[in-house]
Amino acid sequence: MYEKFKRSEWFRHDRFGMFIHFGLYSIPARGEWVRGAENLSDELYYSYFNQFNPYAFDAHEWARAAKRAGMKYVVLTAKHHDGFCLFDSKLTDFKITNTPFKRDLIAEYVEALRDEGLKVGIYYSLIDWNHPAYPAYMHHAHPHRTDEAYKIRRPFEEYLEYMHGQIRELCSNYGKIDIMWFDYSYEEMIGEKWRATELIKMVRDLQPELITDNRLEVSGLGFGSLATATPAYYSGDFVSPECIIPPKGIVNELGEPIPWEACITMNDHWGYCAKDFNFKQADIVIKKLIECVSKGGNMLLNVGPDATGRFPKESCEILEKIGEWMSRSGEAIYGAGISEFDKPEWGRYTQNGDSVYACITETPIGPLPLFGIPHDRIEYVRLLKDGSEVKTLSDWRTENYPGLTFVEFPNYKMLDDVCTVLKIKLK
Ligand code: GLC
Repeated sequence: MYEKFKRSEWFRHDRFGMFIHFGLYSIPARGEWVRGAENLSDELYYSYFNQFNPYAFDAHEWARAAKRAGMKYVVLTAKHHDGFCLFDSKLTDFKITNTPFKRDLIAEYVEALRDEGLKVGIYYSLIDWNHPAYPAYMHHAHPHRTDEAYKIRRPFEEYLEYMHGQIRELCSNYGKIDIMWFDYSYEEMIGEKWRATELIKMVRDLQPELITDNRLEVSGLGFGSLATATPAYYSGDFVSPECIIPPKGIVNELGEPIPWEACITMNDHWGYCAKDFNFKQADIVIKKLIECVSKGGNMLLNVGPDATGRFPKESCEILEKIGEWMSRSGEAIYGAGISEFDKPEWGRYTQNGDSVYACITETPIGPLPLFGIPHDRIEYVRLLKDGSEVKTLSDWRTENYPGLTFVEFPNYKMLDDVCTVLKIKLK
């Protein structure tokens, strides 16, 4: 990885984070797009504002849930497309401190994350359905896109002043921010339309180590100039594929692997959706996290807290199960990445230096071939979860397959339901 990716070193090491989508939309409970998708009237939407009071919110509980799941960083929506701000911005009245809840949720959040030793990420929507200078009529998903009265808007410059001002606030008033997750560019709303060079200069000035996603140039669609040989100044530090794991990881046009983070919903929505019970099973999520790491990427797994400020029960259960596996097998994730050995048919390899992690998702019967790894390169093999020795073997069963190295488990009950990991130490 070349110089440009130095800044994201911790991020590529940590591999696993939590996305949190939280805002007024948790009340209608039909996802975070509800204001735009259903063309909700301002009157109705502001009634949610006047009622918003997530009384059960506890920043430490959110942070601890992430930590227990083995996540190392969290990214929370400080402002989503609806324009509502979870922080005490001086630049708008449409903010949490003016709701019955009154508290600056972002302030509590950053403090709790730091207390738990987690890195701090902030999502900021470039799109804004509330600001009077943001294009509305016939415009991309805006709740007033069919409303002729919204044809004439205030000059877009006014919105840019506001947006830059808010990002300045977020980068100035909450201590060290590790990730700024911009969302998103489309059509002509891209790059310098956001005054992106100036924006990133300001951000770098205030937060020299901060990393950003690539969405000042793209949406979930497209990789942006980060994937070219000459990334723009505002290309961001990682690609942000959405609800998909890139089939072969992501490389730039020089063929070099570049950092990426797949953001994944736990059910089918980002913001809380009361009737969406289509949750992914914990073991699937674990296997997909391994897949991300084996392809050189991260996973950002989403939770959409409900209107009381709690994580949905289903999400908590999934997080707990992931945490159980991570607590014993996290070494195959943190600091690991693409292996020098090709994907074995029974699972995946991840690798960190001279340690290869064989993540076995298909239960073997009899000797398991360690595809691609020559016998004389192996110093030892251990079961990662308890450190116990796993022996390589060659006997009459393996003799028909010269050139392959085999291991056998002393007892198949030792295998993990989700994914057994072998640590293979190379010489
Ligand atoms: C999309 C959506 C948004 C969500 C984001 C997460 O761009 O507009 O609702 O926050 O993806 O990646």
